[in-house]
Amino acid sequence: MTDQALIDLAFTMLGRSYVPYSKFPVGAALLCADGTVFTGCNVENAAYGSTICAERTALVKAVSEGRRDGFERLAVVGKSTDYCWPCGACRQMLYEFAPDLEVLVARGDGAFVKLPLRELLPHGFGPASLG
Ligand code: THU
Repeated sequence: MTDQALIDLAFTMLGRSYVPYSKFPVGAALLCADGTVFTGCNVENAAYGSTICAERTALVKAVSEGRRDGFERLAVVGKSTDYCWPCGACRQMLYEFAPDLEVLVARGDGAFVKLPLRELLPHGFGPASLG
């Protein structure tokens, strides 16, 4: 799957976001080595801290379906003029299962950048850190 196709899938997820509080929809699409894509959107809550981000929705969908490895690329998109950078909690959750993930980060106009998760989360704390 091309980077653009993954970005496009993430953009389709903006319509599923539940964002009555922030009004800031985010979409995500996580590509596995076998071509499977798990999509996600942010789902907010009246108890604001219970909100789950789009990237973690996609990741948790994948893990709950039995996937624990083979994650290759993630697209995360928003509608704003700036790039929709993944938050710290999402970087950390992704690092657990996919430290070598490539991350595509898009702006509302569709422009995107691609960078390794290891660059977004240098010296990440992962399973090996507990050894
Ligand atoms: N959000 C995400 O979905 N992903 C991120 O990495 C950053 C923030 C969501 C959470 C909340 O619903 C809204 O964006 C505003 O913070």
